[in-house]
Amino acid sequence: MVYYVKQGEVPESRHTYIDRSRIYKEELFGEEGFDGPYSLLYHLGEPTRVKKVTKVMKEPINEKSTDELLHRHFSTSFFKPSGDLVSGRRPVLFNDDVRMGTVKPEKPMENYFRHALRDQLLFVHEGKGVLRSVLGSLGFSKGDYVYIPKGTTYSAEYEMNSEFFYLESRERISIPGRYLNKYGQLKEGTPYYTRDIRVPVLEEPSNDAGRYTVLVDYDDYYISEERDRNPLDVVGWDGYLYPFTINVSLMAPIVGKLHQPPPVHETFSGPSFMVGTFLPRKFDFHPHSIPISYYHSNIDTDEVLFYSSGNFMSRKGIGPGSMTLHVRGLIHGPQPGAVDASIGKEETDEIAVMVEAYKPLKVTREGSEIEDKKYMSSWYQ
Ligand SMILES: [Fe+2]
Repeated sequence: MVYYVKQGEVPESRHTYIDRSRIYKEELFGEEGFDGPYSLLYHLGEPTRVKKVTKVMKEPINEKSTDELLHRHFSTSFFKPSGDLVSGRRPVLFNDDVRMGTVKPEKPMENYFRHALRDQLLFVHEGKGVLRSVLGSLGFSKGDYVYIPKGTTYSAEYEMNSEFFYLESRERISIPGRYLNKYGQLKEGTPYYTRDIRVPVLEEPSNDAGRYTVLVDYDDYYISEERDRNPLDVVGWDGYLYPFTINVSLMAPIVGKLHQPPPVHETFSGPSFMVGTFLPRKFDFHPHSIPISYYHSNIDTDEVLFYSSGNFMSRKGIGPGSMTLHVRGLIHGPQPGAVDASIGKEETDEIAVMVEAYKPLKVTREGSEIEDKKYMSSWYQ
């Protein structure tokens, strides 16, 4: 839930019509049954009008069979562009709740898409484009997080050199509860504010007839809906559930006299994960501060970092597009020599996305193919 938005033409009261020429077809678009956040959408036509449905099997997520729990490094720059914004997604790590990886589309989206099961969060590593959903058009560019609630029907246009890190979650991806006051507003002192959040702009509804396909994703298969009307036929909507974007350049990282722990960089959260953002910032101002992170044991989490840009001081061999996995139980931290080398440094220009998963993560076969197998020994030099 973000804040209340109203766009286009809606009746004065819900569940009513405006006049005999404007009897719009109202759809309640909501999560958690009728108890979660929702929006009310007013369609020109009946949203249930589907000519034909077909089950289309998908490639299942392939687990790399391994029993080794190790720190790992994946170079997603080795992934070749493939598919579109949806079909080109290359999962690297997953568990029962979340999947994450990167996508570098090599072709435009030809169909509409709707994930039936998962909220989606894209981080724009390179490029720009526009998400076109039933709730309107939402531009995105480098450094944006793009949040798409499950159930959103959308397509997208984008530059062909675009690259994204993505997270798909069966649980809701939310603004952290501790950032909100009891009235639901973002508090003072949080890394971003409501003003930084951009919402879709509803354009002229489509009344086009033709042949339109909506692929509805159920993880293991699609239900392909064949429609004879453009699904983007919404005249107006209002509510609290919609895609939105926020650019990391607008965020205000929290700094302190001493090294700040990762939770101060939290951006989104869910019951079994948190997403954080490491941003360009001044380092700590204690005269003897060690600017680089201390060694740490993530006893109850597996920690993933996607490195987008800047100089990653604590890691050699890491570059833009790198993903690291630091597993529970094994200590990790700066690589040899990095603590001493960090003394006197005053700022960093790094931009990285962190995902902490509270259930163990598994490596996919695709991830294994781009793995730097020497990463575990990089602390022993
Ligand atoms: Fe860490």
